[in-house]
Amino acid sequence: MEKVLEMKNIVKTYGRVVANDDISIDLRKGEILAIVGENGAGKSTLMKILYGLEKADSGEIFLHGKPVKITSPSVAMDLQIGMVQQHFMLFGPMTVTENIVYNNEISKYSFFDKKKNEEKVAELSERYGLKVDPTAIVDNCPVGTQQRIEILKTLYQNADIIIFDEPSAVLTPNEVDDLLDTMKNLAAAGKSLIIITHKLNEVMYVADRVVVLRAGKLIDVVNKKDTSIEQLSYMMIGRQVANLEIVEHDSNETLLKVENLTLGSELGKKVLDNVNLYVNAGEIVGIAGVSGNGQTELVRCISGLERNYQGKVTVNGSDVSNFDVAAIRKAGLSHIPEDRYMWGSAREATISDNILMGEEDSIRFSKNGILKQKEIDGYADKLIGEYSIKVDNNKQKIKELSGGNAQKVITAREVERDCPFTIACEPTRGIDIGAMEFVHERLVAKRDKYGGILLVTSELSEIMKLCDRIYVMYNGSINYEFKNEDIDDHKLGVLMLGGKVDENKVVN
Ligand SMILES: Nc1ncnc2c1ncn2[C@@H]1O[C@H](COP(=O)(O)OP(=O)(O)OP(=O)(O)O)[C@@H](O)[C@H]1O
Ligand SMILES: [Mg+2]
Repeated sequence: MEKVLEMKNIVKTYGRVVANDDISIDLRKGEILAIVGENGAGKSTLMKILYGLEKADSGEIFLHGKPVKITSPSVAMDLQIGMVQQHFMLFGPMTVTENIVYNNEISKYSFFDKKKNEEKVAELSERYGLKVDPTAIVDNCPVGTQQRIEILKTLYQNADIIIFDEPSAVLTPNEVDDLLDTMKNLAAAGKSLIIITHKLNEVMYVADRVVVLRAGKLIDVVNKKDTSIEQLSYMMIGRQVANLEIVEHDSNETLLKVENLTLGSELGKKVLDNVNLYVNAGEIVGIAGVSGNGQTELVRCISGLERNYQGKVTVNGSDVSNFDVAAIRKAGLSHIPEDRYMWGSAREATISDNILMGEEDSIRFSKNGILKQKEIDGYADKLIGEYSIKVDNNKQKIKELSGGNAQKVITAREVERDCPFTIACEPTRGIDIGAMEFVHERLVAKRDKYGGILLVTSELSEIMKLCDRIYVMYNGSINYEFKNEDIDDHKLGVLMLGGKVDENKVVN
């Protein structure tokens, strides 16, 4: 089949790190090529080079057989290469149409022709089955829609090759299904797609061929139909991934108690409506739900980011209702936040500094107001080793790390923090399957030492695998509670959409 793109002998180094070590790949017309590999394997770097965001040290790129120099994203776009960024680059207060046509408007006498542009967007949206309302304000659109806007933007710019870097990490399960089907439609329409993902089931569903990278090197390129999840994970991490067993623990000590928690929105609507829940020592408790049903707000209230609620929150036996973040952390709570860049880390600070965050006053790391730098760096190195965080040294800035490695720094800091109760929001987002297994083991180890964990994740498989008990959240309330062994995926799916489960039968 016709090769639309060839990347040949690409080398890219950052100091002593060889991010891409002589990598050659090609992309064919109408295919979906997946790129898989551990955190820090070099996936994003290779795609940044293709999109003109990074410059290779050496190597060549050919489009339709002709050599090209892609020196910036605008050159890439001119060459009909588009990229759907993970952190969307949209203007929130503007409309869907304005965002899509930005810089390429159809103008009438140099005025923005609203109607024509909206028609063009509606036509594209129709043609590729990407549902959007051209007149909606972007800020009011759910994440899945914002991603469709990003895709439409690349299509509007006539992209023939579209790159997706971990597109499903921010989506709900239903949105993921829509995305994968959209990708298949685009490929069927003759577009050539590249997707980076850690979810091997997604690879098995959409990809035609799979590129496997490890530590900057190309390990193999395989046809999807000739491979399996087991084989791919083996190629990625060099070993099999094990399964965890759930052991029951009984304890009546309550580490988290939330009583009658109610939170109103600015518009007077209830975002949280009389929520009651608890987490005992020795328990991992999951919150399942389609995102946007109050989970974010619930976590914000418990962790002190939101203080304008009614109701009572008790952590580790102390009433912490309406306390601020620092006071709640003192009471014995650690928190892996949903947005690792916004709340979890300081991107300009070093790994050591980020590991220290929140512990500056502890006896372990400071004496008479002076930091014990050696102790801090030693602890940072320990976590870097245990969580196999791929870095050159502990003085590197967070912004220099690959996405998954930055997440590992936050997860490691919060899980290993010496406190009984942890709220873990999407603790493995963007983390490769080997490290995911390790994070799961650590969460279980914490539970086994009679810690408690509230796990909020859009990964149902993570909930089913780790949780002793599960609450389902719908429309700001907890609408069901069950023990892990009493439920299956199907029932859970129905409950998450507001349906009811009655004894053995599911009613909608
Ligand atoms: N700006 C930078 N400065 C220094 N090192 C960098 C920079 N960008 C990337 N690296 C290093 O290059 C290597 C490859 O990073 P890359 O982002 O390509 O990994 P990845 O495969 O996308 O990983 P992930 O699954 O975590 O997103 C990593 O070791 C990373 O730390
Ligand atoms: Mg990456």
